[in-house]
Amino acid sequence: MALVSSNDILIPAREKGYAVGAFNTSNMEISQAIFEAASELRSPVMVATSESAITYAGFDNLLGTVKHLSEYYGVPAALHLDHGKDLEIAVKCLRHGWTSLMIDASKLDYEQNIAATAEVVRIAHYVGVPVEAELGKLAGVEDMVSVDEREATLTDPDQAADFIERTGCDSLAVAIGTSHGAYKFKGEPRLELDRLSEIAGKVTIPLVLHGASSVPKDVLDRAARFGANLPGAKGVPEEALKQAIERGIAKINIDTDLRLAFTGGVRQVLMESPEVFDPRKIVGEARKAIKEVVKKKIQIFGSEGKA
Ligand code: G3H
Ligand code: 13P
Ligand code: ZN
Repeated sequence: MALVSSNDILIPAREKGYAVGAFNTSNMEISQAIFEAASELRSPVMVATSESAITYAGFDNLLGTVKHLSEYYGVPAALHLDHGKDLEIAVKCLRHGWTSLMIDASKLDYEQNIAATAEVVRIAHYVGVPVEAELGKLAGVEDMVSVDEREATLTDPDQAADFIERTGCDSLAVAIGTSHGAYKFKGEPRLELDRLSEIAGKVTIPLVLHGASSVPKDVLDRAARFGANLPGAKGVPEEALKQAIERGIAKINIDTDLRLAFTGGVRQVLMESPEVFDPRKIVGEARKAIKEVVKKKIQIFGSEGKA
């Protein structure tokens, strides 16, 4: 089927209390793995492309592959710009046929974030494309110096309602204690779930959780067994993700876990079979590993059978 918009996928998720995975891609094998998993489990899916992924692979390459896979597998899929920084990249994605945008102006102050987001929303809505925005900042482990400082990075529930009203955004990424990458927590993982409930009580649009990779032990161990050096890597526990979904999260962003799975697959082939030099044997193993990770996410998020 043709690519659908993120509203088509996320509004039912928020209404019915499950979440849809937004999986980052930057090449053919990752895209194939995402679609194979979604197709086997009959799940809607969001395929996310960061600006650097677009620079790496090119608009047409990403669009062509994702469009083809969506038609071939027949699962509802949206092609999404992840963390678009300004109007220029947003318009380029619209022009190429992306069916979902994120404008991330969360580093700006509140009024500037509203202005930048509202501008992208106005233009994207002319062509029926929904926009995700971000309020609050996803701080990394090293950034949290004091309790007050941490508090200041989190999404304010009252501001969230005002922000949505004034920007017209279709979904909202919230900061509740997650961060990007493989090092999310120094000590015990902690999400601000009560704050999430408060936000969800004030706004009805789908809420988005970035930085949601779990750094699964089996995936990390495989990569480490074959030479990856990632001491202390720690992600969001799967149980916490389930609780976040119960409290209103309808889209969950995953990139790091796919990267770890890719790395483990490639490392194992190269270390165990030094005679191999066929790229398909090397990257094919990464594709298999990513597919398994995506399938597990779909099951945890509750989107299985929702396509
Ligand atoms: O949120 C960030 C994503 O993991 C994309 O990262 O800019 O390295 O492609 P990237
Ligand atoms: P992770 O680094 O936890 O996979 O988060 C990905 C993300 O938020 C992409 O926007
Ligand atoms: Zn993100």
